[in-house]
Amino acid sequence: MTADSRPRTALDLTAMKAAGRRIVMLTCYDALFARLLDSPDVDVLLVGDSVNQVLAGQDTTLSATLDQMIYHAAAVRRATRMLVFVDLPFLTYQVSVEDAIRNAGRVMQQTGANGVKLEGGEAMAPTVSALVERGIPVMGHIGLTPQSVHALGGYRVQGREADAATRLLADAPALEAAGACAVVLELVPAALAKRISESLTVPTIGIGAGSACDGQVLVLHDMLGLNELFEPKFLKRYAELGRTVREAAHAFADDVRSGRYPDAAHSFE
Ligand code: KIV
Repeated sequence: MTADSRPRTALDLTAMKAAGRRIVMLTCYDALFARLLDSPDVDVLLVGDSVNQVLAGQDTTLSATLDQMIYHAAAVRRATRMLVFVDLPFLTYQVSVEDAIRNAGRVMQQTGANGVKLEGGEAMAPTVSALVERGIPVMGHIGLTPQSVHALGGYRVQGREADAATRLLADAPALEAAGACAVVLELVPAALAKRISESLTVPTIGIGAGSACDGQVLVLHDMLGLNELFEPKFLKRYAELGRTVREAAHAFADDVRSGRYPDAAHSFE
């Protein structure tokens, strides 16, 4: 870890859990927000494939491409030396381990990110260990895995039924044993997330998974109130930038139509 105790490598995440320091992760898709978020407040930036919904307006993450992820991750890396993880998009790691190595390798080579994140539990363990053995840090992601939204029947809480909970309790240690440096738990009942977190040495990072996780992640645009139609129960908004943007556009339009803008102060002699 650095002098200001910010994590700089994937290994620092486990050290943070051991020290009882909660991990703060936010999604980030561009250089401008990366510069704003570059402070000791934030530990990890996640270039999530949620970019496909949040910025590109798609219904799901499924059509995100590797080139798209590389474009956004490279922009984030240009602005900051923070710890940056990048989502491997759908079908770039599920078909074969060879594909996963080649595609994760491209992300690492072309973006300068610190690691990749992929979705899936025990079934993905061989892929995780193949990547880790080749020097690519991997963050796991279980619970609601958005790339499987169609198979899961929608964006709903996972692990409520006993067999689903048992599966998640097996998935998390399988990812840890394969070498994952952290595991995202998405939409998991708080008590189950607590049990999973207590069973691991590596940290869990929750989103809609209660307060016992070792860290928390939110989608930046959601927590800033820019994605106004998205109001899931777990989301807490820390700003209302959507309203601010509309008010600013309204004020600009007023000024232009009334002739108040541009005035002398904003014009050239
Ligand atoms: O794509 C994403 O933004 C994510 C987070 C919600 C964890 O995977």
